[in-house]
Amino acid sequence: TKKMILDLDTGIDDSMAIAYALAAPDVDLIGIIGSYGNVYVKDGGINALKILELLGATDVPVYLGESHSLTSDHFDRMQVSARIHGENGIGQVQLPEPKRALETTSGVDFLIDSVKKYGQNLTLVPTGPLTNLAKALDKAPEIAHEIGNVTLMGGALTVEGNVNAYAEANINQDAEAANAVFTSPLHLTMVGLDVTLRTLLTRKETSQWRDLNTKAGTAFADIVDYYIDAYKETNPQVPGCALHDPLAVGVALDPSFITTLGLNMFVSTDKETYGRTIGDQARLDEPATNVNVGINVDADRYLATFMKYLTGLFAK
Ligand code: BDR
Ligand code: CA
Repeated sequence: TKKMILDLDTGIDDSMAIAYALAAPDVDLIGIIGSYGNVYVKDGGINALKILELLGATDVPVYLGESHSLTSDHFDRMQVSARIHGENGIGQVQLPEPKRALETTSGVDFLIDSVKKYGQNLTLVPTGPLTNLAKALDKAPEIAHEIGNVTLMGGALTVEGNVNAYAEANINQDAEAANAVFTSPLHLTMVGLDVTLRTLLTRKETSQWRDLNTKAGTAFADIVDYYIDAYKETNPQVPGCALHDPLAVGVALDPSFITTLGLNMFVSTDKETYGRTIGDQARLDEPATNVNVGINVDADRYLATFMKYLTGLFAK
């Protein structure tokens, strides 16, 4: 059984990532690290607890990560986040207050301790800003060689960003952290907009969850319908909502969902191109590469797997 940690800014697609990790066979979700991004860090942590409780996973601990980027002393939530994910981050759906509390250990320390404990058997899936991972690498650089698998949702190589032409949202929150991660000795798989924008969910699928007539099925249908409607407004050219974060979990468990290009990359921290994920000119000729960038995806097979897992989980 693979040990997995999710580092997320819960968030609607982050919620689907949690569900995917809980439903997939042979995965032991040992903890969630809350990040800022779609929501403030505390709200993201509480949302994660609520989603876990809704799905009956009351034994998965939730730790709080950093509350803002490496280069600033606070975080201002972007207005567009409330439009896409709802003011509360989960599509304005009111879930019961969680019975459990957030853990008191910091998310960064939990990550380092878990690498020490599980090493190659540990898979980390960050689907928010990379601040927590950058902090952990700074505190314990050796973990770059010890951790088994890091598959992240973020970036864009062959398509434009979604914040602006250069930057994808997670990377844009903290390009300095992302650059530290991309240029570290870590081996990464980048599940960026190149593949997530081709992996779409529509109301046809969420209606299958609604038809289950279960608490989880109805709540997830409501939460994700909010996201699908927001997508219609903000990305009218895409016929559905992108499965950004759950695709990263899927790829972490089954890399054959995507085809990748091996590259040495860096993340721009220049003002004009802040957050751009691109090949590192200085390391283009190096034969060894540390980032596998997803450039194509078997969206049909992924969607079938996604629906099998989530519908099965919500039916319980
Ligand atoms: C990413 O940004 C966040 O809003 C989503 O949850 C996803 O992780 C997509 O760019
Ligand atoms: Ca996210």
